[in-house]
Amino acid sequence: MHVVIVGGGVIGLVTAWRAAQRGMRVSVVDPAPGGGAARVAAGMLAAVTELHYGEEGLLALNLASAERYAAFADELAEATGQDVGYRACGTLAVALDSDDRAHLRELHALQQRCGLDAQWLSGRECRRLEPMLAPGVRGGLRVDGDHQVDPRRLASALLTAGERAGVAFRRARAGRLLLAGDGGGRAAGVRLDDGTELTGDTVVLAGGSESVRLPGLPEAVVPPVRPVKGQVLRLRMPKTPGPPFLSRTVRAVVRGGQVYLVPRESGELVLGATSEELGWDTTVTAGGVYELLRDAHELVPGLTELPLVETCAGLRPGSPDNAPLLGPSALPGLQLATGHYRNGVLLAPVTGDALAESLATGLLPEVARPFGAARFAPAGVAGGRAAAASSPTPRSRQELPA
Ligand code: GLY
Repeated sequence: MHVVIVGGGVIGLVTAWRAAQRGMRVSVVDPAPGGGAARVAAGMLAAVTELHYGEEGLLALNLASAERYAAFADELAEATGQDVGYRACGTLAVALDSDDRAHLRELHALQQRCGLDAQWLSGRECRRLEPMLAPGVRGGLRVDGDHQVDPRRLASALLTAGERAGVAFRRARAGRLLLAGDGGGRAAGVRLDDGTELTGDTVVLAGGSESVRLPGLPEAVVPPVRPVKGQVLRLRMPKTPGPPFLSRTVRAVVRGGQVYLVPRESGELVLGATSEELGWDTTVTAGGVYELLRDAHELVPGLTELPLVETCAGLRPGSPDNAPLLGPSALPGLQLATGHYRNGVLLAPVTGDALAESLATGLLPEVARPFGAARFAPAGVAGGRAAAASSPTPRSRQELPA
């Protein structure tokens, strides 16, 4: 069985590695594998602190992936000799004013209803854990189970693991989906930008938000995925003896915007992120940088002393219900692994396992079944169903941001 994977970001790479481990012949098509949103992402594994109302179904998938992370990181290290920067350091979510505190109390109540482990702390207790926090912090949630990984190292290790498992990398752009069969009713491979045709038994579309832009994709199976821009900054923490600048991920909602600080053992401090519905734009803007620094400064005033070493922006692949689209699509021969929105890095282990299973058997494992790729397909399209009353309204390609 030859599997052609379009997209060599973390999701495409983990799918390739797991499929190759199951004995499939695998090709990954990407001009720069190991790039994409993972170059930008902070790498929070925040199943509990990023819980949102209405995403309780997604929580089960997020937790299943979070549980696999330590073993996944060890397996990658063994396969490649590379450390992916998995750090079981926990997270502290804090409130800066009374509105933030009310918001965080609501989140805590939701977490408790979902049976999650999160401990309410006073402002003083928060500052005892993280002395660099602003004196005005009103309270917070200590979540010892939300960890972090370094997405750049993760992508690099997955690339090496794939190469060692026999994955072929075609460093080119996929120019068109090839169709075969009666009336072109089946995906048969891709034509690369240089005109070469790469045929396969199954094509996996794993191009993040770019997945919707593959020419030749029949309208009815274009995944309902849109780009959601995130701007992220990288600072450098001092290497001084004594207590670390921050010892765990710290996050807050400041005037409705998310701000988080992810301190790495290397000294890198990742500060994110904006959330902007601006189509395919990846410009780093003065306004974005200003807002992130302004909000982070309220949270940890001392960070304005740190060197700012990098600014970047990437695109989250947002889906109508904020959950990924996995496995067989309504087009025979085409499977999807996209739409991971805020959770691509977190969901990498469970996505790799789920796609390897669906490629081998045609069926997703139970934990991934609610996130089937055909759940938004219009009624009448094979494998699809009419949007059920409980499902969000599907978006057509025309509704996506230009
Ligand atoms: N999960 C972090 C973000 O999407 O910004």
